[in-house]
Amino acid sequence: MRCRRVPIVLCVAVAGTAPAAPPEKLPLGVSRGLWALSVPEGAVTPERVALGEKLFNDTRLSLNDAVACATCHDPKLAFTDHKPRSEGVGGKEHRTQRNSPTVVNAMFNATQFWDGRAPSLEEQAKLPITNPIEMGMKSLDDVVAKVRAIPEYREPFRNAFGRAPTIDDVVTAIAAFERTQFSGDAPFDRFLAGDGEAIDASAKRGWALFNGRGRCNTCHAFGAVSPLFSDQRFHNIGIAAHETDFIALARRATGIVRSGDLKQIDELAIESELTELGRFLVTKHSNDIGAFKTPTLRNVAATAPYMHDGSLATLWDVMDHYNKGGIPNPNLDGGMQRLGLTEAEIDDMVAFMASLTSPQFATLAQTEMRKQRARKHVRPERDTAAAMGKKGDLGDIAPPPDPANPAPFGVIVTHETAYAPQAAPKR
Ligand code: HEC
Ligand code: HEC
Repeated sequence: MRCRRVPIVLCVAVAGTAPAAPPEKLPLGVSRGLWALSVPEGAVTPERVALGEKLFNDTRLSLNDAVACATCHDPKLAFTDHKPRSEGVGGKEHRTQRNSPTVVNAMFNATQFWDGRAPSLEEQAKLPITNPIEMGMKSLDDVVAKVRAIPEYREPFRNAFGRAPTIDDVVTAIAAFERTQFSGDAPFDRFLAGDGEAIDASAKRGWALFNGRGRCNTCHAFGAVSPLFSDQRFHNIGIAAHETDFIALARRATGIVRSGDLKQIDELAIESELTELGRFLVTKHSNDIGAFKTPTLRNVAATAPYMHDGSLATLWDVMDHYNKGGIPNPNLDGGMQRLGLTEAEIDDMVAFMASLTSPQFATLAQTEMRKQRARKHVRPERDTAAAMGKKGDLGDIAPPPDPANPAPFGVIVTHETAYAPQAAPKR
């Protein structure tokens, strides 16, 4: 009995799971070790990649047959949509609260999403498909039923997984495709590899400032095992802090969020104003209020607009934001300080960031940078006096604290004091 079953079982298990070796040639900046760390054994096979690409581009994975992953992660736009906030089946009226990050190099992320709520590409992919305003499918079972009813998928799923589609097969295939979307070989990579001419003098000065007075590398860390210019951690850099009363919002969230309920957290992050709490929605730690994942800077010249809410239109706006030390709020990261960079230094840092563009996005990045340069005189974030320390206390842009009424500056807020659960809303 046993002897007869073994070959059959093996046969099923082996279909489409031949272990993948790293591609012959990886681009400069992507090491073989990192690739191996980021690709589970057997996860990527040619059959799965081809199937995953088809699924990624297929609008039939959405409720109204109009939205695919590629709608918001368009391969022609460096896998973004160039909109401040993405639009799915909810259309413009019910667009998402967040900006679509690139899928390129997402395989190297320690966690997925701006708040890191998904632990893997596979878990990530399930969420937009069933999010009511992204792809709108009512349930994962509905997704499977819909895919099973499409005859042209029968053969590819058999080849990739040796069976009719399951939801795990759908997301495994999509993730396999995403694991082929890595990039390196940027002018900056060639510069580091010894080609002194690969980037110009301005970008070289920008690189020095990035690690020096700009203090960028404290969060946008770069190294052999960290090729994305990200420490993979979460920081409040004061985006959207103009409008948000973080404390009131956090109090409300504490009563609502069901820790560990990924689907609920996804919906709150994508659709509700609690979105601004960032990592707090996942951890409920007061330190995480308004904190978002440090994003990669690779190909950033091609992926405007910027930040989790798409609120900054150009890399010059980003620089103005950092130059004045961000927007003060009780949870502003200690790494945020006024920088006192001159306009010429800002140009150098933008030139450095543009040198992180991989060849396949070079043309797009050139077009985008031309657009950005054309509006260089529009600088909504610029505050030179603050950046140069000519206003605020000791050059610090936070107003001097009022000892009689210290909140909200410099107060250590604990769960016990400020975020004690309010009466839970009636359900
Ligand atoms: C309606 C637009 C939309 C659709 C459709 C969509 N996404 Fe996204 N995607 C986003 C937005 C917005 C975010 C950021 C959301 C957040 O962080 O809360 C995101 C985040 C991601 C991330 C995380 C990247 C990172 O750096 O953290 C990945 C990977 C991703 N999407 C892949 C997919 C896949 C695969 C599909 C299809 C199954 C898909 N997306 C469908 C808009 C969309
Ligand atoms: C304290 C940590 C920290 C420091 C210091 C820092 N960053 Fe960031 N950076 C972040 C985080 C976190 C985000 C996302 C914030 C958000 O969306 O709310 C971000 C976003 C960005 C973005 C937008 C990327 C995108 O795809 O939307 C750019 C560009 C950027 N940073 C460049 C820089 C530069 C240049 C410097 C130095 C002048 C710098 N950062 C310093 C943490 C930091």
